[in-house]
Amino acid sequence: SNIFRAGISGERPAVPVDVHALDAAAASVLSKEAYAYIAGGAGTEATVAANRSAFDRWQLWPRPLRDVTDRDLSVTFLGRTRPTPLLLAPLGVMELVHPEADLAVARAAASAGVPYTVSNQASFPVERIAQSAPGAPRLFQLYWSASDELNASLLGRAEAAGCEAIVVTLDTHLLGWRTRDLDLAYLPFTRGMGIAQYTSDPVFQGLVTERADASEGSAAAASVKVTPKAIAAGVSIARKGATLTGSRSLRDNLRSPLPRAAVETFLDVFSTPTLTWDDLAKAREWTSLPIILKGIVHPDDAERAVDAGLDGVWVSNHGGRQIDRSVPTLAVLPEISERVGERVPVIFDSGVRSGADAAIALALGADVVALGRPYAYGLALAGEQGVREVIRNVLAELDTTLGLAGLTSIGELDRDALRAV
Ligand code: FNR
Repeated sequence: SNIFRAGISGERPAVPVDVHALDAAAASVLSKEAYAYIAGGAGTEATVAANRSAFDRWQLWPRPLRDVTDRDLSVTFLGRTRPTPLLLAPLGVMELVHPEADLAVARAAASAGVPYTVSNQASFPVERIAQSAPGAPRLFQLYWSASDELNASLLGRAEAAGCEAIVVTLDTHLLGWRTRDLDLAYLPFTRGMGIAQYTSDPVFQGLVTERADASEGSAAAASVKVTPKAIAAGVSIARKGATLTGSRSLRDNLRSPLPRAAVETFLDVFSTPTLTWDDLAKAREWTSLPIILKGIVHPDDAERAVDAGLDGVWVSNHGGRQIDRSVPTLAVLPEISERVGERVPVIFDSGVRSGADAAIALALGADVVALGRPYAYGLALAGEQGVREVIRNVLAELDTTLGLAGLTSIGELDRDALRAV
């Protein structure tokens, strides 16, 4: 209610409260390529649309005349009480949006007590992100590399940097058919963005050097070489005589792609189509943290994950960025929650744009709800303050919605609070 009062007392927000206006404002300040990369989805973007329209199938069913003066948004997640049921989803390459990228997002999340999922493709090493918000709750998201050694190293670093859980993303073993990016011939990784976890990793440094050495004489692969000396100098990728730095300006990154072989190396490292259920057991050897699977959309997979001893299920279709004409996440949430919700936490994302959306997902069985694109737009428009406001707006609307629905706690949000259309 303080937020609402501030809103009507003349304090102008730094970013639009209305989510369509937020999106449009971000589009107007970002480069064409950056906006396309963030907003875009796979193929005809039918999954992006379906993620949103799935919410239309449910309506909140208000019950007045109940005392809702005191409302409590807190939930228990990963063994701890959290002030709210919100989580920030991992978003890579945020340097595309703002020079402070993940550092600003981490501070904004910390100010609201919202756990932040640090991306494997973040623009800063996990250690730097942790330093920018000391003691704040955070998770680390892993793209399972073909190198066990690299995975173990990344997870060890995440644990040392105070991450509470590991989120293994399973829906990106191939890069989706991203039509907007294809039309613009644009992929941030090919411009040296979103590679900080790798270039700061000792195992990765050795790996790439070794690869280059092993293929000496073969023209294509031999052209990539990351040397420790180059890393120390802030240079992440060196190609024969020509040197490309990891700290190139965004302008340089947009102007000139990395050499093809460097690009292939990165794509190789973070997409692993060979990955199967049997491999997952290895993660237990690499970390003592809880392991959550992100990208689960089938109830059978959710059940299999829990039977295999995994610690959480993150229902996501990557915001519709991977498969066109895929199932929308909200449509599969109830069944997944019924199957595994008693045993492990269920995290939900893809298409959440407001507090009312969050309320519906929570009522359908999500324990926590994760936000993706909207906070990138807040970051684009006003850095840390922009992210703070986006988080605040979702939470303030959730609080208001709860009260107007006649409820006083997140636990009371269940099917009775909804009407199916
Ligand atoms: C993502 N997402 C993502 N997921 C992940 O596990 N690791 C990552 O590095 C990224 N990077 C990323 C970048 C951008 C620009 C977007 C838009 C998305 C997916 C993300 O975590 C989340 O699942 C979706 O964004 C949720 O959907 P909404 O809220 O964007 O609709």
